[in-house]
Amino acid sequence: MAAQSVSVLITGANRGLGLEMVKQMVEAPRQLRKLFACCRDPEGPRAEALQTLAKKHPNIISVVRLDADDLCSIKQCVQQVGLLVGTGGLNLLINNAAILFRSNLLEISPEEMQKTFNTNVMGPMNIIKEFLPHLRAAAKASGTPGMSTSKSAVINISSTLGSMQYIHQSYDFIPGVSYRVSKAALNMLTACAAEELRKEEILFSVLHPGWVRTELGGENADIDAQESVLGMLDVMASMTEKQSGAFLDYKGKPVPW
Ligand SMILES: NC(=O)c1ccc[n+]([C@@H]2O[C@H](COP(=O)([O-])OP(=O)(O)OC[C@H]3O[C@@H](n4cnc5c(N)ncnc54)[C@H](OP(=O)(O)O)[C@@H]3O)[C@@H](O)[C@H]2O)c1
Repeated sequence: MAAQSVSVLITGANRGLGLEMVKQMVEAPRQLRKLFACCRDPEGPRAEALQTLAKKHPNIISVVRLDADDLCSIKQCVQQVGLLVGTGGLNLLINNAAILFRSNLLEISPEEMQKTFNTNVMGPMNIIKEFLPHLRAAAKASGTPGMSTSKSAVINISSTLGSMQYIHQSYDFIPGVSYRVSKAALNMLTACAAEELRKEEILFSVLHPGWVRTELGGENADIDAQESVLGMLDVMASMTEKQSGAFLDYKGKPVPW
């Protein structure tokens, strides 16, 4: 993050990479005005670690209910965030929540594909559209030209499993057809948004976090959440208009589409 004080929203913030992002961002409190840590069940047992963290930083972290599958909950979250950010708007929105089924083409059901699409594509699409007024407000309020994640930006957390070029290297290891299709769609959604909102200086980019030891990544993954998030936050902090519409990994290396 740049020196300017920013407001940030993260989906799926109760565990895995989302929770680690909250932890690391809040360790630099002077750069954060407000951090909206969203999850689908803030009062449930899966949000206990997040709630404990939020209690330590009550002026910065707000735990807000947001279910990516539920447009009503997204709209309610937008209202709650609006009350707290005011005319300064929302500077950085991180679409991190996602689900993964591992089925191949013969195993996959239409229900599984639909559910994955709802969470991994429709969710980010609805969230981007609903939060656009707050992102626009942040872009206008900044008063500086160009793009950055401390001005107005959306980072969609995707995966190399959504890359057409990487499929030969990874398909035997994990088919995950619905996940791959959803992440490829998320990538295109990001590219479309980057084009459409370029003139308004709102940055859109896709990040691959690496293969990370979380519930989704599994215990045999390459790196831990701390390393992945350290890298992603550095990459986000260095982004300018040149990275709008880009697909980068957690080290800042371009990923082929
Ligand atoms: N870990 C990896 O190796 C890896 C690799 C490439 C990309 N990624 C991407 O990184 C991101 C984070 O993954 P992760 O490894 O941290 O996964 P994770 O540990 O399984 O966490 C997933 C998060 O998404 C939330 N979520 C799922 N469905 C949701 C919904 N409908 N509404 C709101 N929240 C929902 C979960 O909340 P609940 O607790 O309520 O289920 C949880 O907070 C994902 O976009 C994933 O595709 C991960």
